Amino acid sequence: MTAEVARSPEVLPWNRPQLGPEEIDEVIDTLRSGWLTTGPKTARFELGVRELTGAEDAFAVNSCTAALHLALLVSGIGPGTEVITPSLTFCAVANVVVRVGATPVFVDVEPDTLNLDPEQVASAVTDRTRVIVAMHYGGHPCEMDRLRQMADDHDLLLLEDAAHAIGADYRGRPVGSLGDAAAFSFYANKNMTTGEGGMLVGRADLVSAARLLGRHGIDRGAWLRHGSRGPAEYDVVDAGLKYNMSDILAAIGLHQLRRLPAFIARRTEIAERYTHELADLSALWLPRAAGHVRHAWHLYPVQIDPDRAGLDRDGLAASLAAAGIGTSMHFTPIHRLRTYRGLADPATLPHTERAADRLLSLPCYPAMSDDDVGRVVGAVRRALMERRP
Ligand SMILES: Cc1ncc(COP(=O)(O)O)c(C=O)c1O
Repeated sequence: MTAEVARSPEVLPWNRPQLGPEEIDEVIDTLRSGWLTTGPKTARFELGVRELTGAEDAFAVNSCTAALHLALLVSGIGPGTEVITPSLTFCAVANVVVRVGATPVFVDVEPDTLNLDPEQVASAVTDRTRVIVAMHYGGHPCEMDRLRQMADDHDLLLLEDAAHAIGADYRGRPVGSLGDAAAFSFYANKNMTTGEGGMLVGRADLVSAARLLGRHGIDRGAWLRHGSRGPAEYDVVDAGLKYNMSDILAAIGLHQLRRLPAFIARRTEIAERYTHELADLSALWLPRAAGHVRHAWHLYPVQIDPDRAGLDRDGLAASLAAAGIGTSMHFTPIHRLRTYRGLADPATLPHTERAADRLLSLPCYPAMSDDDVGRVVGAVRRALMERRP
């Protein structure tokens, strides 16, 4: 039995988390235990994510943004250096690049996966480049073998922004084990959630340096200091930040992690049904998983061709909203946001530009019933049939 977050029968939101009685009981157990901050449940959660990804180490933090920030801090980059990233992503990565004093360099995406295009990365590498950020768009892993080769050839750090992709595979290898480090998000709308939360996994040297910086630069965790052993003494060996996860959130994460395979299986089922039942609509571009990946299907983004459809993306979103169906858009490209305008010539990002005007993310999450999926299919079909030019 699943305890569902309250929902109105008429409105199908774009996303809704699925939480069960196990998550609720575990949170209550944590509250009753008297240990609310980083502690034994966080350690178990980190171990679980290490086992899932095969990463050498894992540090649970309070957001993916924190994990990305720490990864860049421990990579030692700063003013005068460049970080290659897609523009078709969330602002978090560009913001932390700027915060460490480096410059984001936006490159175009592949038109089919909307992931970083390795050809474009190759032509963007300069002698100032230090990091490539591979964001697995919507849960579809990037072409990591080619990006790895490029990173090795130029002595660059390869960082996975895996906010969408926990549980995905590339050529049989789990996301989170494909770069030098990877950042996961457990934000409320992600494939598994702790409400807010994230994790940095990867090479032991990077993650242990990040753990130190993410706990004030204090050389021992609070749990070790006050919990089971040791005197309450500490030293600060670097000017750190406070990014650690609490056991209250890890309590939720432990059970979400256990359910992740079932969550992804259901997302895959929904995505396949959309692809099957919308395939004949020639005005719609539909996402597909390449044969060599396991897609996490965090997003099901369609692209609408306004000339063939007789309505544009915003028109389709409005039509679905009128039918009580929520949608979302991923993403406003970073180079169009005020802080970053002028940092890239839009003409160099043609696939990003085109997708950004056409993308619409349909609801795709395990808490949807088969009827919900049918309702979305029906509403999309009606919107396009009614407006056929
Ligand atoms: C691609 C990507 N990276 C990073 C983030 C930041 O995640 P968080 O909210 O956990 O910091 C998000 C959030 O939506 C995202 O979509």
